[in-house]
Amino acid sequence: MANIYHLHLSKKDLRGAKIAFVPGDPDRSKIIAQAFDRPVELARKREYCTWLGYLDGHPVVATSTGIGGGSTSIAIEELAMLGITTFIRVGTTGAIQKHIKLGDVVISTGSVRLDGASEHYAPLAYPAVADFNITRALVDAAQRKKIAYHTGITASCATFYHGQERYDSFRKYVPRSLQGTMKEWQALNVMNYEMESATLFTACAANGLKAGCVAGVIVNRTQREGVHEELVRKAEVNGLTVAVEGARQLLKEKRA
Ligand code: URA
Repeated sequence: MANIYHLHLSKKDLRGAKIAFVPGDPDRSKIIAQAFDRPVELARKREYCTWLGYLDGHPVVATSTGIGGGSTSIAIEELAMLGITTFIRVGTTGAIQKHIKLGDVVISTGSVRLDGASEHYAPLAYPAVADFNITRALVDAAQRKKIAYHTGITASCATFYHGQERYDSFRKYVPRSLQGTMKEWQALNVMNYEMESATLFTACAANGLKAGCVAGVIVNRTQREGVHEELVRKAEVNGLTVAVEGARQLLKEKRA
């Protein structure tokens, strides 16, 4: 059987898996797979790295999407062609509300569509919302594992610097149309910034697929930005713990 274009996988490779964990980072596919039984790396091409394993006897995969909507849309399309129907994004994020702490997780109920790619799936009036049952399973998982979590709306941006109103870019300039946007999202009770959920939610809903998103908080934009390696690790572990535990629940409930 021929391998699919970008992911370099065939349907047979996936052993009938219906659930895919979709981190951005290729190295995180491997980290997630360490929570599976019998993990094996299936393929690595460009930003796409896929591992297969088993959760409570069910085949599951972890495939990285790369950063942003364009590469995420390729991963969703090709995984769906290979039989995946449930997508759980495990990401990292920058919080924009004061009360959210580093290491907490944000479970997105919906996303502001600032990603660009989702407009190739549906007009902007179409909402980018997570699947209810996946979201409920992620929340239950965070509660069971006693991991601090927040639910709400995520701003999902095409760019890390300008779209998230960072002034520490090459030219230190943010175009006028984007100046003041962080303050506006804060006032509208948006929780956080990341770069893939709007594409994921829109593409999945529009295609009759299911998606959820949990992201570990690695910075809080209301404070001075700085990367604390220990807290990044904690955020990653918390995100993947919630995602894997949530998937186990979905499999048990036969919702995946
Ligand atoms: N990912 C983002 O897109 N923004 C952040 O601030 C952190 C992670």
